[in-house]
Amino acid sequence: MSKKTIVSIIITAIIIISVVLPNQRSDDQDEHSMHINHTAKSHAIEWTPSTRNALVKEMQSITVNYQDLVSALAQGNWEKVVESSHAIYSSFILKQELSREDMEALHRILPDRFIEMDKQFHEQAQKLETAAQNHDPELAVIYSGKLLEGCVSCHQTYAHKRFPGLEKKKATVPEH
Ligand code: HEC
Repeated sequence: MSKKTIVSIIITAIIIISVVLPNQRSDDQDEHSMHINHTAKSHAIEWTPSTRNALVKEMQSITVNYQDLVSALAQGNWEKVVESSHAIYSSFILKQELSREDMEALHRILPDRFIEMDKQFHEQAQKLETAAQNHDPELAVIYSGKLLEGCVSCHQTYAHKRFPGLEKKKATVPEH
């Protein structure tokens, strides 16, 4: 093997290690935090009447938009997919026009993990919007699946009283 070959093998190895290792670490962290969610008992959020109202409004709007986008995606109606995923993205509860009191209440009552899940959910919507702009059905399907995963996992953690069908049976981490 020439020196040049050895050097390029080493460089390739470094690139692979630097790309793969950080990802693995964050996967582990995700799994770890999911595990915590799956074993923790109560996640009741102390909504005030007006913050609950804002949440319900957001949920009703994302339900309609999600249904629309799934249907539009199946038909390759990209304009509609872009529109619906953009509407989901911009319905972020913390970005709604809330009074200062409601904003402060939200920051007080929402656990960090909820905010993180909500943020992740809206980021998936943004990625879906981009995939739709690029007319990329494979990627759009992946992100629409991730969005649904986002609904279910947040409801499992923070809304299982409301949706008993999503009550976790035991502390198992689902396979992906
Ligand atoms: C980050 C957390 C989170 C995400 C993501 C999320 N939800 Fe929710 N959702 C909630 C919470 C919390 C409630 C309220 C439960 C309660 O009433 O206490 C709720 C309630 C709802 C309701 C009932 C609203 C009503 O009329 O009272 C619907 C419908 C709903 N969600 C649909 C969805 C759909 C569809 C998605 C995904 C496309 C989704 N949600 C994603 C947290 C979330």
